[in-house]
Amino acid sequence: MEILRIQGGQRLEGKVQVSGSKNAALPQFAAALLSGEETILENVPDLSDVRFMGEILSHLGTDIERLGQNTWKIHPANIHPDAPYELVRKMRASICLLGPLVARLKRAKIPMPGGCVIGHRPIDLHLRALNEMGANVSLNQGVVEVDGSSMKPATIFIGGRHGSTVTGTANAIMASVLTHGTTVLDGAACEPEILDLCTMLEKMGAKISGAGSHLLKIEGVEKLQGCTHRVIPDRIEAATYIMAGAITRGKVCVQGIRPNHLGAFAKVMKESGIQLQEIGADTIEVKTDPSGLKPFEVITLPYPGFPTDLQAQACALACTIPGLSILTERVYASRFMHIPELLRMGAEVSLEGANAIVRGGKTLNGAPVMASDLRASAALILAGLVAEGETWVHRIYHLDRGYELLDKKLRNLGAKIERLPESALPPAFRSPVD
Ligand code: EPU
Repeated sequence: MEILRIQGGQRLEGKVQVSGSKNAALPQFAAALLSGEETILENVPDLSDVRFMGEILSHLGTDIERLGQNTWKIHPANIHPDAPYELVRKMRASICLLGPLVARLKRAKIPMPGGCVIGHRPIDLHLRALNEMGANVSLNQGVVEVDGSSMKPATIFIGGRHGSTVTGTANAIMASVLTHGTTVLDGAACEPEILDLCTMLEKMGAKISGAGSHLLKIEGVEKLQGCTHRVIPDRIEAATYIMAGAITRGKVCVQGIRPNHLGAFAKVMKESGIQLQEIGADTIEVKTDPSGLKPFEVITLPYPGFPTDLQAQACALACTIPGLSILTERVYASRFMHIPELLRMGAEVSLEGANAIVRGGKTLNGAPVMASDLRASAALILAGLVAEGETWVHRIYHLDRGYELLDKKLRNLGAKIERLPESALPPAFRSPVD
């Protein structure tokens, strides 16, 4: 296993290019299955989750080829509906295959995704939507089996207790694009990744109105064609680099982004005194005057609210701003695995229910810390950038699922960060718990 060694204390400065969005690309790989023709996806981030998805598509019979680091050709002429447990269990986003397989083949067999460290992640809303469209859904030995031979259009409220569901909406859209008649999805997720999926599906010939809103109307068509589509930039990666600039009090230009996708995140940063300036259509410069920083309050919500995928990184940032910041998690009530690790670095954070209360301004100290999930990894790296001394982040395979070349990009901004085999550490400091 590899670790990241970070020598804290470098002020970041320079330009960083944002990659394509993981959470847009993964459902788009699935969407390519809706047509028997060839689809080209560009600006696909080079991540282990994307490679897993490629392997699953290949297992389903798709002819899939990487044409370059960020371009994939997907040709699913002859596919079957049976997804393999050993691959599906590695990645929850493989549930996005359900909609396209049922739509195209009228049948799908996908192992139920397993537990997840960020909290309970049921798929009841995905299955309910298919049920309401007349599909027969059953669970046999941990495998979700769907018979969609009697699918019909329906009017579906797809929201749940926690608001809209992102991949559930993606599944319902993909299930209905080939179902004759008009399907209405109320309470749909309106994340930019869903809008981008609709844009791709429209290029394939789907008829969708209301894309980007909570109310979608989908007119089923007979057949879809292949397309060429460029994945949108990753707003979560962009915001992570904005916070990397802010936490080191540096001056960083984050390039290749869609500033309007930053939603409530940009507002929170500005209110806390972090200067964000749009330069042209696709760049934001972040500058920070330490004397103007204020603690902040964040409540995670579906888009355009503050994303749960930025809560951990914002928590690390709050640790460096004097005063009391409060981060309330409304999407995944227990997504706080980064906190015990931040405490090891000397942070003062207490957890009261779904609220993390951060008393910021204490000097952080480098420590061996363990990444529990993708966004927690990013948070620990941000903390390591400003900690006194060395931080070693273990289990960075979580990071490689969702951030393309993060260590290299940070190094280009002046961070002292290197990737090492765990064996390079003194024995006493190898994996803290294993
Ligand atoms: N929910 C249900 N039932 C369902 C589906 C969801 O109760 O059938 C609940 C969830 O438990 C959660 C809330 O609804 O409380 C929202 O979950 P959602 O379905 O929107 O999450 P997701 O689609 O499984 C995507 C991203 C996550 C991101 C969430 C929330 C992808 C591949 N994953 O997950 O990304 O946290 O939306 O924005 O798009 C990440 O990138 O680190 C990540 C975890």
